[in-house]
Amino acid sequence: MNIDVSSVDHALTTTRAVRLRLDLERTVDNQIIYDCIDVAEQAPSGGNQGSRRWVVVRDPKVKAQLAELYMATGGEFMIGARNKIAGTGHPQERVMNSAAYLAEHLAEVPAIVIPTIMGVHDGSGRPGLFDSVVQSVWSFCVALRARGLGTAWTTAILGKSDELREVLGVPETSTQIAMIPVAWYTGDDFKKAPRYPARDITFIDQYAHTWESGPSDPACLADGPGCVVEADIKAPIQQVWDLVTDINFGAQFSPEFVGARWADGVDGPALGAQFIGSNKHEAIGEWDVPCFINRYENLVEFGWVTSDADNPGARWCFELARIAGATRLRYTLTLGPGPSGISQAIASMPDKEPRILHRRINEHRSNMQAVIDGVAAAVHRESDGPNPIFG
Ligand SMILES: Cc1cc2nc3c(=O)[nH]c(=O)nc-3n(C[C@H](O)[C@H](O)[C@H](O)COP(=O)(O)O)c2cc1C
Repeated sequence: MNIDVSSVDHALTTTRAVRLRLDLERTVDNQIIYDCIDVAEQAPSGGNQGSRRWVVVRDPKVKAQLAELYMATGGEFMIGARNKIAGTGHPQERVMNSAAYLAEHLAEVPAIVIPTIMGVHDGSGRPGLFDSVVQSVWSFCVALRARGLGTAWTTAILGKSDELREVLGVPETSTQIAMIPVAWYTGDDFKKAPRYPARDITFIDQYAHTWESGPSDPACLADGPGCVVEADIKAPIQQVWDLVTDINFGAQFSPEFVGARWADGVDGPALGAQFIGSNKHEAIGEWDVPCFINRYENLVEFGWVTSDADNPGARWCFELARIAGATRLRYTLTLGPGPSGISQAIASMPDKEPRILHRRINEHRSNMQAVIDGVAAAVHRESDGPNPIFG
């Protein structure tokens, strides 16, 4: 049987967390849940052991007990957060609105599914527990989606897992994994969510090594090799932003980057602004390179390209994002497409191109890591006082 790839991809990329669009009026037949569990049970499991057990809650009295537990562990917080950020444009506004709605209406959802697995995790890292159930529960959600039913992967109730166990009669020798509300969804379709493109987060052969295209065999500069170094820094985003937009900051930490100065008439970072970076390297010597700021959005990204704004030798960027209790900092580099020291090195030894690239990317990665570590150390020093309020 030929598989219709676009339908499969559509189901996989649009199985959203459905809360506001759960149809609380329409009955969900038990058989459809059994069918989707049969699909889900085809997922892999460690040792090929069938250890997943599924609890489907339909009884209104039991659903009310789950709703009460959910409210106590997460719902009250979600409702409070929704009320606090409503209308402020906060990045979590939509999610909180939807999450609070689910907390308020959980008891009305036609079916609530609690997947469990026999066994208790021993922390050994061996396969067989969470890693033998999560993929199956996701298959269950996608199978339902394909049939017109919505789900939301929730775990807040596990904050009261003993009480949940008591309500459902789950033995202590089994682990409860999630709580999945199941209902027909209203409306037609769902959209893809914004996510990192694969090329930004996929590394070939070596962690952190990225490729803008290809990579060809053998790999070459025209493939746009690069690297990314990341850290979750426990500090408000403004503090991290102030450090990374200081063009001299990295010089304290990078063995190669010596310092930078703004071009004549420029007094700070802005789109199109130019600065000159100074570098040193034991094999290359000392050199200056003009840099042009090509990405600049307050608290979001600060990027520059080197040598020639229209045909750069390299592209660098700091990207910042708020995550729970921290700021995620990504420092990225992409080489090319224009000429640079590396293209000259390759021109003199073209047969060594892949090796030259590999080595140079590793060198950059280690220098970039030093800068990121420097940011983390600097904010920790600054945060030694009272607890920072995370942005
Ligand atoms: C491990 C995990 C736990 C989650 N817990 C909850 C939860 O307790 N309540 C809730 O409303 N959503 C929960 N979610 C759903 C996420 O909020 C949701 O996936 C996210 O907002 C992205 O939306 P999307 O899945 O539609 O892309 C959880 C998701 C995961 C993966």
